Amino acid sequence: MAISLDTRYLDGFVRDHELGALQAQVTAAHEMLHNKTGLGNDFLGWVTLPTDYDKEEFARIKAAAARIRENTDVFIAIGIGGSYLGARAVIDFLKSPQYNLTVKNAPQVFFAGNTISPAALTELLDLCEGKRVSINVISKSGTTTEPAIAFRVLRDYLVKTVGEEEARKRIFVTTDKARGTLKGLADREGYETFVVPDDVGGRFSVLTAVGLLPIAVAGCDIDALMKGARAAQDELCDTAIENNPCYRYAAARQCLLRKGRAVELMVSYEPAYAMMSEWWKQLYGESEGKDGKGLFPASVVFSTDLHSLGQFVQDGSNILFETVVMIDRPARDMVIEEDPENVDGLNFLTGSTMDYVNKKAFEGTVLAHTDGGTPNLVIHVPSACEEELGYLIYFFEKACAISGYMLGVNPFDQPGVESYKKNMFALLGKPGYEDARAALEARLGR
Ligand code: PA5
Repeated sequence: MAISLDTRYLDGFVRDHELGALQAQVTAAHEMLHNKTGLGNDFLGWVTLPTDYDKEEFARIKAAAARIRENTDVFIAIGIGGSYLGARAVIDFLKSPQYNLTVKNAPQVFFAGNTISPAALTELLDLCEGKRVSINVISKSGTTTEPAIAFRVLRDYLVKTVGEEEARKRIFVTTDKARGTLKGLADREGYETFVVPDDVGGRFSVLTAVGLLPIAVAGCDIDALMKGARAAQDELCDTAIENNPCYRYAAARQCLLRKGRAVELMVSYEPAYAMMSEWWKQLYGESEGKDGKGLFPASVVFSTDLHSLGQFVQDGSNILFETVVMIDRPARDMVIEEDPENVDGLNFLTGSTMDYVNKKAFEGTVLAHTDGGTPNLVIHVPSACEEELGYLIYFFEKACAISGYMLGVNPFDQPGVESYKKNMFALLGKPGYEDARAALEARLGR
């Protein structure tokens, strides 16, 4: 298997028989998922996506990405939530968070429509000045406010700067195959479209066109990404907790939650992994946080955050556990040279690699934090490559579904996301929301 799960740092917190006692629930969750008998069973397209994906569309994604890489300086992916985080996470991890500063002979990749910040969008428009721009608007519903506003502005910018005909060749739409205003607009205007499958929810959609087009534009190998996910689809099916790291991870989380560990802190030692943790937070937060239940997903990058949140993890209230994603072989490494004057007293590290020091920081931290009362899970990923990342993505998606079913929730809906939208529309005066607006204004004291 491409990745492994180390549960030795649960010692003293969770006994083997406690995990074993969850086997029946894991098996039941597995059957609900694979027999499509659980809640949200119309959103299980992601389970077989690595083998069943639309091959014709996949080829079109690669062709569009190749064209964009030829004719574009600035590529903007517009989307929010599941229509944003996966692509950003994969590009940051496989390329670099500094990708836009280092890329040569290929487009810079920016993201828009994931906030309503006028400062952010205006800055992006400034960055487009004098550049060849292409846009990919991504929205399953086609009606989400944040990306809709950004698309309105950026499409207008493109039409004004290059004209309608050229803009048509530079706008790519990823949305529902038949429904929604975005699909209607794309058909009317003749924009190339890609599909968010009906049975794949936003946060499970990174391996569809939603993630794949921006990821391919950044020059990542999407064949290898799918190959890794396919391996995970094949390998992570054994119902036995001891044989299946994905199910063992789901069971361990649920066991820890039942022992009062309501916060899961995702830890990485690579800044390039930070957006992967953001993707994971959405996946788990939206899937499990409902019906008054769920673990709160949080994240840190160590050793950076050992100098801030590390204090709480070591010494604060015992509400959390850590899940460390350890990249065994970093993308790049360097050797620490001798300093003839040994000013910092660190000559004992001469000849060591930075990665060696980073790994010692991990070992020291995991032992200190367990001593301090914080259980740890460690997921080992051999290297930062497409295939292993595809595997890891599928691992987290499947563990999330199993964990959600064990919790007794529907892991594939997100009813809570609607509440702020209703209030915002009412306060903005959207037609049809008049009564709600009066009530909200009164609560705001107006
Ligand atoms: O996971 C989800 O379903 C959500 O986070 C959506 O992805 C997000 O709200 C964006 O929705 P849409 O793609 O319809 O614009």
